[in-house]
Amino acid sequence: MMKRIAVLTSGGDCSGMNATLRAVVRTGMASGLEVIGIKKGFQGLIDRLYETMTTRSVSNMLQRGGTVLQSARCKEMRTEAGLRLACDNLRGLGIDGLIVIGGDGSLNGANAIHNQGIPVVGVPASIDNDIPFTDVSLGVDTALNNIIHVVDNLKDTASSHDRAFVVEIMGRNCGYLATVATIAAGAEFCIIPEEPYDLDELCESLRRRYREGRTNSILMVAEGAGKAEDIAAKIKDRIGFETRVIVLGHYQRGGSPSVYDRVLGARFGQAAVNCLLNNETGIMVGIQCSQITKTDLQTVTSAGIRPINPIYHDLANQLSL
Ligand code: F6P
Repeated sequence: MMKRIAVLTSGGDCSGMNATLRAVVRTGMASGLEVIGIKKGFQGLIDRLYETMTTRSVSNMLQRGGTVLQSARCKEMRTEAGLRLACDNLRGLGIDGLIVIGGDGSLNGANAIHNQGIPVVGVPASIDNDIPFTDVSLGVDTALNNIIHVVDNLKDTASSHDRAFVVEIMGRNCGYLATVATIAAGAEFCIIPEEPYDLDELCESLRRRYREGRTNSILMVAEGAGKAEDIAAKIKDRIGFETRVIVLGHYQRGGSPSVYDRVLGARFGQAAVNCLLNNETGIMVGIQCSQITKTDLQTVTSAGIRPINPIYHDLANQLSL
């Protein structure tokens, strides 16, 4: 019987992780479970950094970005020795089940632990939205809101100077954030790793805007497709607009979570605990068409990057330029 569970946040942090932790602790305690919080992700599991969590440990943090348990990218976890130590420590602590909140690397770690016989449930959390078998991962909505806040401001200053801004967006090898931000912020062009683009066509489109007397242009570049600086260097003498570059970087990952991410975190946290209680393990919870889904971690981790919904891709293309 499940008596003591552990939870950790791993990899790049994102807004909504605290909401998930809160839901894990509250759902767990309501079901009579003891909940152990592992600090600093898998690194804390290896180094035995942990605390018993109570409702006090998750009070007044729903509105905070980041993760109160802290996170880390743990190379050691990818080694056989690291994995063995992590599992030994979990057994030593008497942990009956583990909840891992994180992105693709973290879900790989979760799967590896499960394969060692320790029940695990994964929660998809990454601003990149590159995890398959969920419509959306935790933190994506807040990151998009962060992005459009900046781009709205950029348009003000760009318009005052007849400028084009090349905006570099995170997402690792996935162009989801850049694509959806293009729709939401009304950008003129979007370059993503999933699609080739024609530099001449891009320059001609921006030059046409300049000739028409438009006062600004926004070009989104997903980091996986190249550096904004390099793309700006290629276009700056060809488009009429004076060109500036901004790399949004880690700004995108922080900040108070949106309502969507708070509710998503609450749903994921509750679902993850219930899965452990029902012996549904070795899975990742997700959300598809507003319903909580459960997919084998093995399936999730071997499926590759989540493809961008063609509806978003076509919409971004059609509404730009
Ligand atoms: O995976 C989330 C992410 O923010 C990516 O978009 C980005 O490439 C990477 O993490 C940055 O990693 P770090 O925080 O280790 O610099």
